Amino acid sequence: MDMLISPSVLNSNLGRLSEEISKVEAVADLIHLDVMDNHFVPNLTFGLPVVASVISQTSLRADVHLMINDPDRWAPAYGEAGAYSVTFHIEAARDPRTLCKNIRSTGARAATALKPETSLDALDGVIEYLDMILIMTVEPGFGGQAFMSDMMPKVARARELGGAEMWIEVDGGVSQDTIMECKEAGANVFVAGSCVYSNPDPAQAVRELKALVEK
Ligand code: DX5
Ligand code: ZN
Repeated sequence: MDMLISPSVLNSNLGRLSEEISKVEAVADLIHLDVMDNHFVPNLTFGLPVVASVISQTSLRADVHLMINDPDRWAPAYGEAGAYSVTFHIEAARDPRTLCKNIRSTGARAATALKPETSLDALDGVIEYLDMILIMTVEPGFGGQAFMSDMMPKVARARELGGAEMWIEVDGGVSQDTIMECKEAGANVFVAGSCVYSNPDPAQAVRELKALVEK
């Protein structure tokens, strides 16, 4: 299975978003866009108009992570805007199966995220509708938090439940120091925010992460 690095722009210079994305364009596999609505999480970033604009300006596939209430209503539009993958939080969804179908009908991959305290039991009856499961390795809302190693058994269980074809993504505190345990647990998509954008050479950070997981 391909190992994919998805830099998160959350802690980049958001006033110069396209410039920041272009720094990793040649080396990243995806670009991770964190949409926050100040309700599902206590932080506010950007929404559909900004995501649509980014998609039109980059060659990277958009990995959209929606930390919003009422994804049943809002998520499919991100697929229509050209997102490659649309992730909603299972805690916020009313009818996750229908939502996955609606996302897939736009041509996007359908994914769901689980907060650290949310059990994989929440995915009962939903797995077959999913293309990716995102296991949060921090509380969603902010970049730069400490990686939660205690989520690794959950990553391993998600891999077991999802099978060989399911993409398993980790998000939060992923760095050169923590990426290997994520891979060993069964993840294949690695979001890295501050590790990439706090590096004076973000592309170099992506290359280092990639080299580690491809070893
Ligand atoms: C947090 C976001 C993450 C964040 C990760 O809620 O979902 O994508 O940008 O940032 P780091 O890699 O700094 O933990
Ligand atoms: Zn994220």
